[in-house]
Amino acid sequence: MIRAKQNWKRWVAVLLASSFGAWTWFGESAAFQSPTERWRLGKSVNQSRFVGSTACAQCHEDIANRQSKTAMALALTATAEDELLKQRAPMTFKLGEFTYRIERAGAQFTYTITNGKETFSAPLLWSFGHGTSGKTFVIQHNGSYYETRVSYFTSLERLDLTPGAPRELPASLDQAIGQPQRANEALGCFTCHSTPLPTTTEIKLDQFTQGLQCEACHGPGEKHLVALKAGKKELAKQEIFNPRTWPSDDVNQLLCGACHRSWEAVMQLPERGGDANVRFQPYRLANSKCYQNPDDRRIGCTACHDPHGDVAHEPRAYDAKCLACHQGGTASIKADAQRTAPACRTAKQNCTTCHMPKYEPSHLHFKFTDHWIRVVKPGEPHPR
Ligand code: HEC
Ligand code: HEC
Ligand code: HEC
Ligand code: HEC
Ligand code: HEC
Ligand code: HEC
Ligand code: HEC
Repeated sequence: MIRAKQNWKRWVAVLLASSFGAWTWFGESAAFQSPTERWRLGKSVNQSRFVGSTACAQCHEDIANRQSKTAMALALTATAEDELLKQRAPMTFKLGEFTYRIERAGAQFTYTITNGKETFSAPLLWSFGHGTSGKTFVIQHNGSYYETRVSYFTSLERLDLTPGAPRELPASLDQAIGQPQRANEALGCFTCHSTPLPTTTEIKLDQFTQGLQCEACHGPGEKHLVALKAGKKELAKQEIFNPRTWPSDDVNQLLCGACHRSWEAVMQLPERGGDANVRFQPYRLANSKCYQNPDDRRIGCTACHDPHGDVAHEPRAYDAKCLACHQGGTASIKADAQRTAPACRTAKQNCTTCHMPKYEPSHLHFKFTDHWIRVVKPGEPHPR
């Protein structure tokens, strides 16, 4: 636990938080003054309200054009508008005595479960996930939100059991439906997959914009706009949260980590989230030897990912990121005093193919990229 060794304060935070059963310690960093964190914690936001990304697009057109096509912007859709379901439905899945069916009914899609004697049917309300690995649906039943027991998996091109759903066969129709979500759990899904509605100050279950819009990361923009209208550009800059003003580790762990799961959050999960913790990049990355100086921007999430753009899939695209610190590589990359980390004796390019291997956790049907950068020894168990 490299990060922990260097950062005993984080350990104190983890211990305190787990002993009180909740986040009771928010660090001493001024970072927590940011509106983004404040609304995330459910508090009112500096009396500033959300204005919606259409307003931001008027002036930040290029960013808005790119961002609106990303998986994060499309992380939630009203199921009636789900293009994938429009192509794939009807879909069926058999689980013990129960047959599941997702099919079109007028403008909607319905979720039907039957064992021939009893039948349950409800409209699908929300499709969670753009579909990189898959999609899970949310329905309403008896006044609660339910996560459906079956999900769509992109690699399988069909339905299968939702990750985290019980693996044993359902004993009753009621159990077959899925996992009921307590109000705060359902709110959790929406907090990470959507943005508060313009004119509100926080996410409410009936008031949100689908997907991650600008203000999901930048906080509410009302005061930024008011200052700009008054011609006060310097004030306007202070009234909107720019993550670049944060230390790199805070961007990784507090901003990206608020949804992708920080090192601290994973440390508090039973068994650290099991083998599924490969999908928690802020945790994995922090365990790498490359993360020795957590505030080095060269190892920040934004060094390798454009927060407003798509993920590069070509391994060559990442070589220069590694070689910003490591020596060696191809001749075209110049020697640099900043590159103090050792060179590889095995290869000069495509670094991520060996040192950030793909790993498929149980039940997820997707090979996640392991952000725990390391020398992977053949036959070695997958570290957690
Ligand atoms: C009326 C035009 C306008 C609108 C609308 C607008 N911005 Fe800006 N924004 C600006 C200008 C001008 C700057 C300052 C640019 C500079 O000097 O580099 C800025 C700067 C920023 C910055 C960087 C702040 C910094 O620290 O330098 C962020 C982040 C930002 N805007 C986000 C947003 C978001 C999110 C929205 C929608 C809620 C939005 N803007 C709406 C004009 C606008
Ligand atoms: C408010 C929650 C939230 C925050 C904050 C957040 N993300 Fe995400 N991110 C998501 C969700 C949800 C998805 C899954 C989108 C989908 O496929 O449906 C995602 C997906 C991604 C992807 C994969 C995109 C793809 O094409 O598959 C990358 C890369 C990513 N996020 C990087 C970041 C970085 C870097 C930051 C910090 C600057 C960040 N995220 C902050 C929620 C968040
Ligand atoms: C703490 C924030 C958080 C919460 C709470 C959360 N998610 Fe996510 N979700 C993410 C992030 C980040 C990703 C992208 C990385 C990944 O796939 O693990 C994601 C990915 C997904 C995906 C796969 C998306 C894709 O394009 O492949 C689905 C489906 C999903 N979430 C559904 C849900 C549902 C349903 C709930 C509520 C029961 C929920 N999530 C709660 C953050 C969250
Ligand atoms: C997933 C989180 C996320 C979302 C969503 C997001 N941003 Fe950003 N934004 C960032 C981060 C992180 C930075 C700082 C980038 C850096 O450090 O290089 C940033 C920087 C900026 C800047 C400052 C310019 C710059 O390059 O420094 C502007 C302006 C901006 N964003 C506008 C927007 C607008 C407009 C939207 C919506 C269309 C948006 N952002 C959506 C995370 C996000
Ligand atoms: C040193 C470069 C590097 C850094 C730093 C980095 N990533 Fe990645 N990330 C990658 C690579 C490489 C991929 C895989 C791209 C591909 O093959 O599709 C990836 C993929 C992803 C994906 C898509 C899902 C997956 O598993 O393939 C998400 C989400 C993601 N990164 C989030 C993050 C977050 C959050 C951070 C910061 C904690 C971060 N990344 C830091 C290199 C990096
Ligand atoms: C911020 C600078 C930085 C970046 C960026 C970086 N590394 Fe490192 N990396 C280091 C440092 C420092 C070490 C520790 C070297 C030592 O132990 O002397 C290290 C160690 C390693 C190790 C040895 C790990 C072990 O378990 O022994 C590998 C392999 C590695 N890096 C590969 C990569 C790859 C591949 C990338 C790009 C995907 C990358 N690094 C990006 C700084 C960095
Ligand atoms: C074909 C797989 C492969 C590729 C591609 C690869 N490496 Fe390696 N790397 C290894 C193996 C195996 C080792 C361990 C054996 C060794 O030290 O020679 C290693 C060791 C390392 C180490 C530890 C060196 C030390 O002295 O402790 C670093 C750092 C490293 N690689 C970085 C990189 C970087 C940066 C790239 C891209 C320029 C890269 N690797 C590309 C397989 C690879």
